[in-house]
Formats: sequence, structure tokens, C-alpha cells
Amino acid sequence: AAMDSGSARSELDPEAYEERLEARLGKSREMMRVVLNKAKSDPKRLALAEGTDEKMIRAAYQLQEQGIAHPVLIGSAEKIRQTAADLGLDFDPEVADPRSGEWDSYANRLYELRQRKGMTKNEAHELIRRDTNYFASVMVAENDADAMLTGLTHHYPSALRPPLQVIGTAPDADYAAGVYMLTFKNRVIFCADTTVNLAPEADVLAEITKHTAELARRFNVEPRAAMLSYSNFGSVDNQGTRKPRDAVKLLHDDDEVDFAVDGEMQADTAVVEDILEGTYEFSELDDPANVLVFPNLEAGNIGYKLLQRLGGAEAIGPMLVGMDKPVHVLQRGDEVKDIVNLAGVAVVDAQNE
Ligand code: ACO
Repeated sequence: AAMDSGSARSELDPEAYEERLEARLGKSREMMRVVLNKAKSDPKRLALAEGTDEKMIRAAYQLQEQGIAHPVLIGSAEKIRQTAADLGLDFDPEVADPRSGEWDSYANRLYELRQRKGMTKNEAHELIRRDTNYFASVMVAENDADAMLTGLTHHYPSALRPPLQVIGTAPDADYAAGVYMLTFKNRVIFCADTTVNLAPEADVLAEITKHTAELARRFNVEPRAAMLSYSNFGSVDNQGTRKPRDAVKLLHDDDEVDFAVDGEMQADTAVVEDILEGTYEFSELDDPANVLVFPNLEAGNIGYKLLQRLGGAEAIGPMLVGMDKPVHVLQRGDEVKDIVNLAGVAVVDAQNE
């Protein structure tokens, strides 16, 4: 089988397992090396909203040392310098301290952006002082930083809302979505949407697919997208299966779409060549899909986590697509290497701005 077959056999044959693990990590390291090298060729200013967090400070150190990004740590300057010293990092990071210095221009900008969404001037000043996600979002909106990372110490929605409100979506986008890149031994798969849209309609699924395909190309992967459901090409017809089917229609009618996409289809149809080539040879996909678009957030979030944990994939993400500026919202508990990887992705995004 093409897929890494999991741990049961690996326990019997540790050597083969080690080999597979090395091959798989090799693939994901190779893909990240391309991204990180590209980032190093023109490092960008990266606002780290959780500047006082230990992992963020460690990541900032690595980003600066390796020349991947110019990190700007947001938070108490005293606390950040003390933590860096306690960690034994020989490092004098750039800090933006919301409680010191003059940030009235940021508060005024926030007020300007949100005054017709119910925000008062006082609230804008308070948010700039107290909520570093707003501070970082305005910093990026004002082009004082090129990209932003957050999410380690926040619930995902509360870290995502400020950039959605302040930075918003790109001119060609109405919806943001969270994509995970999963690397297996001999294949790479992009999963969307895994973090943002609860119950996307057909047009939202179509948009998410386009943005995920673009993202795949940035990793030098030629996208082949499958719109997933629990039915194959109309084998079950109801409101649920109609959305992904309609999304495929929208994409097939869209002259700008220059990648293969089909569905709706079941997940095994999407990834098993024999099923695609046999039963569904009429499909636009001749090879297994590498962009999997899930019908809703439950499926997407559960699906990628199962693939990661049981399929033993390396996961990079969640990469936010559709935003006007590069913003990525990490998950609580992510590690320094996850921060560095997403920072690399953000810098490469910013280079394309
Ligand atoms: N794409 C782009 N912008 C959006 C989206 C979207 N999908 N959804 C909302 N927005 C914008 C709105 O237009 C609004 O902008 P405006 O105020 O300028 O008009 C702003 O974001 C805030 O919108 P609200 O409707 O006030 O925010 P809401 O409370 O709906 O929050 C959010 C939006 C956070 C994305 C919400 O839909 C959500 O919680 N999604 C699920 C997140 C989640 O729990 N993910 C799973 C966990 S992730 C993990 O694995 C840890």
C-alpha cells in the first residue's frame, strides 16, 4: 500500500519502522527546508503577539539566529528581556511594549477601523494596551510588520477574531480557512478547512479549495483536489452531499481554475488510485488527490487529527489562507519547531505580497 501502514506492523519490525520514519521525516524536512531557505533569502518583519511566552522567545531567537525572519516580540519589554536571560539566550530582541511608548496611532487606527462596528475610542485604547492580538493585527495592518503569529496561549477563536476584524480577507477572498500539510512516507496531503468555517456552503467550499490549491503550489506540489463527503458522485443525494457537489460545479465552471478537482467523493475514493481509475474512471482526477476539502469543520478537524496520529504523518499548520496579510494562528501546545515552521511559511507569503 502507498500509505504508511501504522504502528502494529512497526512493532514487529522496528528496523523497517525506523526506515519509514526517516523517509517520512526526510520528506517533510525537505519541504520545510525549501520554505525556510526561501524565507532566509529575504527575511521579513514578523510580529509575535505572545512575546512574553517562553516558546515564542525561543522561536524568536532561532528565527533571528538563522535569518529566517526579523521577529518583533510584543509584550512587556522587562519580562521579555528577563525571560530571554533566564533561558540563557544571548539575544537582544526587538520588542514592542504596548504599555510603554506611544501607541496612540495604533489605537486611533483601530478605532477608525472598528468605530462603525460598535467600538468606542476608549475601548480601542484599552484593546491596544491589553490585547496583544489587536496590537499585532494593527501593526501588520499599518505595515510596521509584514506578518503575524499568535495562538499559543489563547483559545483559537479568540486569537483569530482580532486579525479577522483588523486585517480581514484578501481582495479575492471572502473567507479565511485553516490548512494542514501532512507529509507521509511518499505523499503529501493538504487538508482544508480544519480550523475556521463551521458549516461552509458550496461557494465557501469552492473558495477554500482554490486557496488551498494555491498554497500547495507554493510548496511546489501540483494540486489535485477532492471534495469529500460520504457519497460518491451523487450516490446519495441530500442537502449535505449536495454542497460539495455544487462546489465542484462552481469550480468546473470557473475559467480561473487551472487544477484538477472533482467530487463529491468518499475519502477512500480520493486517495486510492484503483478506485479512481476503476469505478470512477470518468473523474477529473487520474491520480490520488493531494488536496482534501472536507464538508464541514467537524470532519476536517477530526480527519486531519486522525491522519496525523494514526497515520503517523508530520503536520505543518494550521496555515491560514484567504487573509489579506500573512497571519497564522497556532494551536495551544504547539512546539518551538511548529512556530519556526509557520514563521517560515509567513515570511514566504510576505515575500509574495
Ligand atoms: N473568514 C473570514 N472572515 C470571517 C470569517 C471567515 N470564515 N468568519 C467571520 N469572519 C469575520 C467577520 O466578517 C467579522 O468581521 P467584521 O467584524 O469586520 O464584520 C469578524 O470576522 C468577526 O466575526 P464574528 O461573526 O463576530 O465572529 P465569530 O464569533 O463568528 O467568529 C470565528 C469567527 C472565530 C472564525 C468563528 O467562526 C469560529 O469560532 N470558528 C471556529 C473556530 C474553531 O473553534 N476552530 C476549531 C478549533 S481550531 C483547533 O484545532 C484548536
